Amino acid sequence: MAKLRIALLAGGISSEREVSLNSGDQVFEALDKSKYDVRRYDPKTDLEALVADASRIDASLIILHGPYGEDGTVQGLLDLLHIPYQGSGVLGSALAMNKLAAKKLYEKADLPVPPYMVLESGDELEIAACERQIGLPLVVKPVVGGSSVGMSIVKSKDQLKSAVDKALAHDTGILIESYIPGIEITGGVIGNKKLEALPLIEIVPDEAHEFFDYEAKYTAGITQEICPARIDAALTEKAQNYAKIAHQALFCRGYSRTDMILRDSEIYVLETNTIPGMTATSLLPLAAKTAGMDFSRLLDRLIELSMEGHSSRH
Ligand SMILES: Nc1ncnc2c1ncn2[C@@H]1O[C@H](COP(=O)(O)OP(=O)(O)O)[C@@H](O)[C@H]1O
Ligand SMILES: [Mg+2]
Repeated sequence: MAKLRIALLAGGISSEREVSLNSGDQVFEALDKSKYDVRRYDPKTDLEALVADASRIDASLIILHGPYGEDGTVQGLLDLLHIPYQGSGVLGSALAMNKLAAKKLYEKADLPVPPYMVLESGDELEIAACERQIGLPLVVKPVVGGSSVGMSIVKSKDQLKSAVDKALAHDTGILIESYIPGIEITGGVIGNKKLEALPLIEIVPDEAHEFFDYEAKYTAGITQEICPARIDAALTEKAQNYAKIAHQALFCRGYSRTDMILRDSEIYVLETNTIPGMTATSLLPLAAKTAGMDFSRLLDRLIELSMEGHSSRH
């Protein structure tokens, strides 16, 4: 059988470029070369080549994070070029990338979210109102972002202004939300019509990191990732179900990974990642491995789902 011609997109122009290039290398390594002819494209420099090659590409893997990659823009380009790609389309990608749009849809779907306020650049920051409505500690984050970039945990009123300015340096809108202490878990789901929940992962950064920040995400050894999470069967089922509901509420496709925090028996949904980290040791690949699917097989499955989804839509 002829090999499938796969376009591997990694790099791009977001603040997560380095993360993407690293994932791209590992995905390239893991793809089964007896099945696939793989060509790499960096959207920063190779969009013209991608367009020129489009008719000779069977499927693509978008290994890009953040704006201009995970947000629907590249998905729209690939739709125009009739190239199948793994995961969510334009709509799901754009909704999940915007944490405010996502929260509104989670709320509609009865998923608990931390209480929040929105602040646009130019709005006056009313510190007292913020403290009254949200309480301390609180979390400040850009509406659009990822990898914890621009995010802060604020414990006292006098830290709020600088946290807001830091988040506003990354986006014109920010979220100020209650800090939820508890057990951090993340739930992957995979499938097209029939969505399957992967085992949950429990995320435990070391004591020097008060949350799952950029360093804790990308420096080996800082964070313990325990799979399956050490929570009871009923809560596991509830969180897995929340991950499926979140995926559907945001019109996602193929696969996604939803971050949550468990406080007592209440689970709060933080966000859904439509292109979760894709190194061999990233969270979703770890969950897949725990379910018996190694990294190469996971990539096979994502390619199969992308082509199946594409042909059922056209
Ligand atoms: N409301 C919150 N309460 C407690 N911790 C939070 C809260 N929001 C975010 N965090 C911490 O910050 C990390 C990143 O937040 P998240 O909303 O997942 O954004 P992203 O991963 O896209 O940067 C989470 O994994 C968690 O450790
Ligand atoms: Mg996250």
